[in-house]
Parts: sequence; structure tokens; C-alpha cells
Amino acid sequence: MRKGILSLMAVGVLATGGLTACGDDKADDPGSSGNAKKAKIGVILPDSKSSARWETADRKYLEQAFKTAGVDYEIQNAQNDKAAFQTIAEQMITGGVNVLMIVNLDSGTGKAVLDKAKAAGVATIDYDRLTLGGSAAYYVSFDNVAVGKLQGEGLVKCLTDAKVTKPVIAELNGSQTDNNATLFKQGYDGVLKAKYDSNEYVKGPDQWVAEWDNTTAGTTFEQMLTSTPTIAGVLAANDGLGNAAINVLKKQKLNGRVPVTGQDATVQGLQNILNGDQCMTVYKAVKQEADAAAKLAIGLAKGEKGATSQKVTDPEGKREVDAVLLTPKSITKDNVKDVIDDGYVTVAELCTGDFAAKCAAAGIK
Ligand code: BGC
Repeated sequence: MRKGILSLMAVGVLATGGLTACGDDKADDPGSSGNAKKAKIGVILPDSKSSARWETADRKYLEQAFKTAGVDYEIQNAQNDKAAFQTIAEQMITGGVNVLMIVNLDSGTGKAVLDKAKAAGVATIDYDRLTLGGSAAYYVSFDNVAVGKLQGEGLVKCLTDAKVTKPVIAELNGSQTDNNATLFKQGYDGVLKAKYDSNEYVKGPDQWVAEWDNTTAGTTFEQMLTSTPTIAGVLAANDGLGNAAINVLKKQKLNGRVPVTGQDATVQGLQNILNGDQCMTVYKAVKQEADAAAKLAIGLAKGEKGATSQKVTDPEGKREVDAVLLTPKSITKDNVKDVIDDGYVTVAELCTGDFAAKCAAAGIK
């Protein structure tokens, strides 16, 4: 009850602020121009190890968008610590953010944070990962089932090109507490199941990798390869997990002969592709994702309602969430160049040392 009144009051304050900001004559109301300044956006990134993207891409592009708009913002990284994640959120809320954007570490702590923000009248956005059972007003991400589908299709293409018959497939899934990992799996299992059912492929070991941890992925894949030495294709859910599998394959001199997938178009993933050790990666234009989320956040911070054209259903909360879902792109040796052309990775980062010649061969200058 109390919570309800508090949040109603807070919403009221936010709504009034919004009206003041857009409707009133600035000369009559000196407070109105100050209102825009009060807009403050808090962002919590999940970690810096499960993928390079969070620090090298998301932070950079979000910062650029907020700076361009001239809004006050704070971006922090929870470094895979759920307690720290919650503390950061509390500090941001008491520190006066009026929009909170999170990449949850799991739905439980994500929900706790979103509910607290909502009760304090802070607008919320689920960035990249949907918080199941959560209360975020918006969700900005990619079509994550499509990401998985590209991975499945990429692996099939590499195995077909290499003329491998009846390959045994190993699956290294992401973190089971990340809804995206579930969606990726849904996408690639859709492709692979057809191959298992028609007896073209053989289903091998299939495991989740807790917290997307790359070291755990290496240990897990080592055990997979020991118990199933015939593994002939690896569906790894992102570049970090893929790289962990490649390192194990290298020890058996199997790298390049067993195709491995990935995701995120990281420098490491792209270099593994140029080396012939990784079959493909999925490029998600994080700039588009960051720009879409920042646009929504800035609008919300000023008391406006954001415009989104898509919706997703939260399977746990059975709630429709307004969403922006962007389109991922498959990257193989043939189009690594596209990632460079899009400005996501630079030639200087990718084409270091031995990779200079490989870049040149792939048409990258
Ligand atoms: C993201 C991926 C990332 C993974 C690990 C997922 O939720 O969508 O891009 O590789 O988390 O951080």
C-alpha cells in the first residue's frame, strides 16, 4: 500500500516534470530549463570477462550517445558480482537517476533492482537481457533466437563445405541464468534438431556454461572431448566460449578441422576466423543497440514516453514488454571486412603482427 502511494507520487512528479520541460515558456519558468539538466541516466553493465563487448563497445557507444545529447549519466560495471550489482543500483537510485538501464546478472537480482527503481519512480530499461518476471518498462536487444539460428546455420555450412559426414556435435551454451542464452539455444537447436532427426548429424555433449565463464568452458570442453573424441563440430554460444574450445582443440591438433561457432565479433573471434580456427561469429551492431536504448532513456529522463514498434512476452511474468529488437548478421572469413567497414573493430586492432597478411588476404586494408 505504502509502496503504491510512493510510486504513484513519484510518477506524478516525473509526469509534471515532463510537462514542464516540453510545454512551458522558459522565460516564465526558470525551472523548466533546469529540468532537462536534472535528467540523469544510470547504466549497470554485467561484467568485463564474459565478453569483451560490454567495455569495448556498449560503454563506448552509450557514452557517446549521452554526451551528444548532453545528459547527465553514470555507467558502472558490476564485474559479475550480484551483491555489487544491487549496491550500485541502490546508490544510483538514491543518487537521483530518473532512468535506470540494466544488463542483469540473473533474473532474481535483476527483478529486485527493477522493482526498487520502479517503487522510487525511476523508469527502467532492460538492456540486451530480458529480466524474467521483471518490471522494466522497455527491452532493447537483438532478435536473439535469430542469433542462434545464424550460429546453427553457420555450423551446418562449415560442416557441409568440409564434406564431413555424420558429424557429432558438441554444444557449449551460455549461462543458464541469462535469458539470451536460452533464446540462442532455441535458435540453434531448431536448426540442429532437424539434422539429428534426419540422422545426418549425431547429438553429442550439450552443456550450459555457468556465468559464461571462459575458464569453465575450457574445462567443460576438455571433458567433452575426452568422453567423446569424435566431436566434429562445436556450437559455442559466443566468441569467448568458442576460443576456450579452440584452445582445447589446438592441444589435439584438431583446430581448423573441427568447426567452432561464436558471437560478438570480438577481435579474438575475428582473428580465430582469419586463422581458420573458427567457422563464424555473429555480429551484433552494438552501436545500434546502444543508440536505441540511449534514445529511449533520454526521452524517459525528460518525462516523455518512448516509441517502440515491437513487443516481447516475458514467459515468466506473462507480461508484454515494449521492445526494440535489432537484426544480427553472420560473419565468416568472406565478410570479416563488413565488421571493419561498420567501424566496430579497427584495422589496427585486428591486423596486428601475423594477422596483417591474413587481413590483406581477406581484403582488409
Ligand atoms: C549477450 C552476448 C554476450 C553474453 C556474455 C549475452 O547476454 O547477448 O552478446 O556474449 O551475454 O556476456
